[in-house]
Amino acid sequence: MAGRVDAGEMSRAEAVHMGVAMLIAGHETTATMISLGTLVLLENPEQLALVRDSEDPKIVARAVEELLRYLSIVQVGLRRVATEDIEIGGRVIRAGDGLIVDLHAANWDPEAFPGSDRVDVTRPARRHNAFGYGPHQCLGQSLARLELQVVYGTLYRRIPTLRLAAQVDELEFDHSGTTYGVASLPVAW
Ligand code: HEM
Repeated sequence: MAGRVDAGEMSRAEAVHMGVAMLIAGHETTATMISLGTLVLLENPEQLALVRDSEDPKIVARAVEELLRYLSIVQVGLRRVATEDIEIGGRVIRAGDGLIVDLHAANWDPEAFPGSDRVDVTRPARRHNAFGYGPHQCLGQSLARLELQVVYGTLYRRIPTLRLAAQVDELEFDHSGTTYGVASLPVAW
């Protein structure tokens, strides 16, 4: 991007905007999934044991999908414009209407995921919408899945005594950004 700014193909402001976007899209999301996912597992020791004690990488991969669904960390509504009339749930959305899509509501729909308010790492949750939907769904989802499979499959084995070093009600939850997360996660081992 610096080269393109020097070549006059991109303004400095565009490069800064793109850099911030990639930092949020590529770093904040995965970092948040690691801290929040760890918090959920530490608070649900029987679920943590399933992830930690299994030799089967498919169990970890399934846990990643369930935590993506359960946490749905992108909680800003995604904006779309209908390109044609569509009927959903008895309501017609007209071509040209603006839509705000709430991924969290879709991922907690009890018809799609029975008992959706419970985390269950054995649930087949892969058809969640945590990475969005359609042509603009998350470009980095394969990388994000890989990173989370490595972390969840390694961290709790390497540090089996990992525990929270604060009460959950002392933690500061941050809803101000693109993703929802914890400002910090104090742990001990
Ligand atoms: C757990 C991690 C992640 C989550 C939950 C996540 C979630 C999302 C969501 C919900 C969207 C909007 C999709 C839509 O509009 O339908 C998105 C877009 C995007 N994400 Fe991610 N993301 C993650 C990790 C990453 C990583 C690691 C990268 C890059 C290295 C990345 C790059 C992008 C980009 C470039 C877009 C815009 C795609 C477009 O508009 O065409 N994301 N992500």
